[in-house]
Amino acid sequence: MANLIDGRAIAEKVYVDLRRQIAELKSKGVTPGLAVVLVGDNPASRAYVRSKDKMSRELGLHSVKLELPAMTTQSELLSRVEELNRDPAIHGILVQSPPPKQIDEAAIVRALDPRKDVDGFHPVNVAKLVSAAADGFVPCTPLGIQRLLLESKIDISGAHVVILGRSMIVGKPLALLLMQKNKDADATVTVVHSRSRNLEKITRSADILIAAIGRANFVKSEHVRDGAVIVDVGISRVEDATNERGYRLVGDVAFDEVAKKAAAITPVPGGVGPMTIAMLMANTVKACRQVL
Ligand code: GUN
Repeated sequence: MANLIDGRAIAEKVYVDLRRQIAELKSKGVTPGLAVVLVGDNPASRAYVRSKDKMSRELGLHSVKLELPAMTTQSELLSRVEELNRDPAIHGILVQSPPPKQIDEAAIVRALDPRKDVDGFHPVNVAKLVSAAADGFVPCTPLGIQRLLLESKIDISGAHVVILGRSMIVGKPLALLLMQKNKDADATVTVVHSRSRNLEKITRSADILIAAIGRANFVKSEHVRDGAVIVDVGISRVEDATNERGYRLVGDVAFDEVAKKAAAITPVPGGVGPMTIAMLMANTVKACRQVL
């Protein structure tokens, strides 16, 4: 049976360090500020935004939660982003993805001040990730996964990491991050996706398999070799009448069967999710320190 990787406990370690940095900033009269923008009422997005705002307050950051109606126009959203760009009390801005269909998300991301882009989605920050520039912002989920592996003493260097999924939020930036030339990375990275031929053969060759395709229970025991490390980024709501909320959360990995083969595995919830939020807080503190 696999070791369970406890994302909540590792996130707590991150917060110990962040609390110290925040106290130091406050002693200099500076409070890091984070603005979280939600457009519309997607229930999952609402829940994420609530968690981000809550954690931000718990750490004593200046937290601004902006909830805009589902019919907000592109130009209204742009002007809110521009206001936040100009606001000196705000060091980090996040616009929760996905926005409603009338919004051109790429244009919104380009409008962000890259120095406040704590999601790491702006083209300037994407370029900084490609070129390994230390002052850029790396997307929170990839950063959280790297930290989770390092804190769990799992060797990334030289390992074959197979990433399932090629999104701009997880798959692509994670591949760039883990293939970087430094002691916290140095992986051999393969990215597979829904169109990949021989997908199972490739995933079975992974030392570390990271599932980020957004399909509930996609990864089965036949995708995994004995002793692999499994990171589950997926988080889907499936109907469950026995649960008081009427649904339960499941990952991209069929947990019970895969856990029997794996050396270590992240649970859903309580694995990658808490790390994503911790890295958002870390990026906000970094953004604040970099403009001092
Ligand atoms: N939607 C899913 N993950 C993320 C994230 O890390 N940031 C934002 N802004 N939206 C998301």
